[in-house]
Amino acid sequence: MYVKALCFILLFVVAGTVTYASPLSYTSRASSNDTIAAELEKMKNFTTLLTLANISNLTGTLENASLSVTLFAPTNDGISSTLKAANISESAVVKNSTLVKMILEYHIVPQPLKTSSFSAVNSFKTLEGSNITVTKNNTGIFVNGFEIIKMNVKADKSIIQVIDGLLIPPGIVV
Ligand SMILES: *[C@@H]1O[C@H](CO)[C@@H](O)[C@H](O)[C@H]1NC(C)=O
Ligand SMILES: *[C@@H]1O[C@H](CO)[C@@H](O)[C@H](O)[C@H]1NC(C)=O
Ligand SMILES: *[C@@H]1O[C@H](CO)[C@@H](O)[C@H](O)[C@H]1NC(C)=O
Ligand SMILES: *[C@@H]1O[C@H](CO)[C@@H](O)[C@H](O)[C@H]1NC(C)=O
Ligand SMILES: *[C@@H]1O[C@H](CO)[C@@H](O)[C@H](O)[C@H]1NC(C)=O
Ligand SMILES: *[C@@H]1O[C@H](CO)[C@@H](O)[C@H](O)[C@H]1NC(C)=O
Ligand SMILES: *[C@@H]1O[C@H](CO)[C@@H](O)[C@H](O)[C@H]1NC(C)=O
Ligand SMILES: *[C@@H]1O[C@H](CO)[C@@H](O)[C@H](O)[C@H]1NC(C)=O
Ligand SMILES: *[C@@H]1O[C@H](CO)[C@@H](O)[C@H](O)[C@H]1NC(C)=O
Repeated sequence: MYVKALCFILLFVVAGTVTYASPLSYTSRASSNDTIAAELEKMKNFTTLLTLANISNLTGTLENASLSVTLFAPTNDGISSTLKAANISESAVVKNSTLVKMILEYHIVPQPLKTSSFSAVNSFKTLEGSNITVTKNNTGIFVNGFEIIKMNVKADKSIIQVIDGLLIPPGIVV
């Protein structure tokens, strides 16, 4: 009885504070130019990524001008096509903020990487803990098979590499 009431109150608090018009709607917010978050807002096409950052409390990280990292940033289309191909619904993903955080941290390498520094095959440890593989051939540069479609976007001390798909860490079950 008591537990039930507590659960109800918790449910009410959560429902009251987090309201999304659709699973991945995004509200723009002011942040200083040049941060990763600001650059993503300026480039458009990253509203899904910014919403996922919000859900997983990583917005502050993307607004941190002292940060010196590489963000492999998936476009809106890249995220939706990857989820569709894997038969994963957006609403299933956004429900689990821990999962969202693991996925996003798998897109961040804790050092700035320019594409000129890549050799044919490279392995980088991400904030999530697992490695991503960057390969380079005559066609282009690929991260776990997804192409870097916009290279070396500067954001303070960090670098954004735009990719056309969502990187899912190994061993993750959605
Ligand atoms: C960021 O720069 C854009 C133009 O590049 C400008 O329109 C905008 O007002 C600036 N935002 C801030 C917070 O300085
Ligand atoms: C950005 O969004 C526009 C409009 O939705 C689309 O036409 C374009 O292909 C997108 N670009 C990328 C790189 O995803
Ligand atoms: C998420 O976005 C809302 C509205 O845009 C904002 O009030 C809130 O502080 C954001 N949360 C985080 C963790 O950034
Ligand atoms: C911003 O990043 C720097 C460098 O990683 C870190 O020392 C600092 O604590 C971060 N600030 C916030 C508010 O997270
Ligand atoms: C996709 O998921 C739905 C619901 O879980 C299921 O009914 C459907 O069979 C799945 N399709 C494929 C191609 O895996
Ligand atoms: C994000 O912050 C909210 C509110 O503080 C918390 O309920 C939630 O568990 C946090 N999510 C993650 C992934 O840290
Ligand atoms: C959220 O995702 C994590 C990582 O995949 C998983 O360990 C956890 O069980 C999930 N939580 C829920 C409530 O599904
Ligand atoms: C992961 O990448 C790091 C370099 O960032 C490398 O030292 C390590 O051997 C890699 N681990 C695996 C399992 O590939
Ligand atoms: C380059 O690598 C990508 C990703 O692995 C692959 O799809 C493409 O076919 C490769 N191109 C060539 C010319 O080998």
